[in-house]
Amino acid sequence: MRHWCMTPYEAIVDKRDLRVYTEQAIADDVMHRILQAGRMAGSAKNAESNRLIVVTDQATQDALAAAGDFAGWIGTSAVVVGFASPAHELRMFDIGRQAQNMMLAAHAEGIGSCPVTLGHADAARAAVGLPDDWEMPMVITLGHPVANHPDSPLKRQRVSLDELVRYDRWS
Ligand SMILES: Cc1cc2nc3c(=O)[nH]c(=O)nc-3n(C[C@H](O)[C@H](O)[C@H](O)COP(=O)(O)O)c2cc1C
Repeated sequence: MRHWCMTPYEAIVDKRDLRVYTEQAIADDVMHRILQAGRMAGSAKNAESNRLIVVTDQATQDALAAAGDFAGWIGTSAVVVGFASPAHELRMFDIGRQAQNMMLAAHAEGIGSCPVTLGHADAARAAVGLPDDWEMPMVITLGHPVANHPDSPLKRQRVSLDELVRYDRWS
């Protein structure tokens, strides 16, 4: 399903992390826009030190799945995108900005996504052949969502704005 008429706000508040995808490939032009959305994220000191590794190869996806503790399903994705960074310049806020840009751009095109933590750094490095002084702590998965997508086992309401937001001081 395409959401051509989504406003940015609608895409942001409607996006949920989806983990079950059809086997349909993501069209090249859509994938290009998703990657451009990551490229255009700002970075600390404008350093742009991250690199994106786009993985469609099944064996590589399976190796990445083994690098996480809650990642067993990622080999069923159309595309996995890894966020690689020099270990001495690992800035998770930069990675988060890129990842969310990409997942929102994907959602606006009807593509589902989910962030995944790769806690086993050596396994992640080996899976994609990263140099020893680089790390890839996060990936996102992408794919066309299945119809009647099952709920996440973690599904719940977000905390209320009253709980989330403090004004001027903690209390
Ligand atoms: C930093 C971060 C790490 C995450 N790691 C994983 C993960 O390893 N495996 C997984 O299945 N989901 C992972 N998620 C997805 C969260 O479970 C998801 O964002 C949360 O449950 C909200 O889901 P919803 O948008 O569907 O409500 C991660 C999310 C974030 C922000």
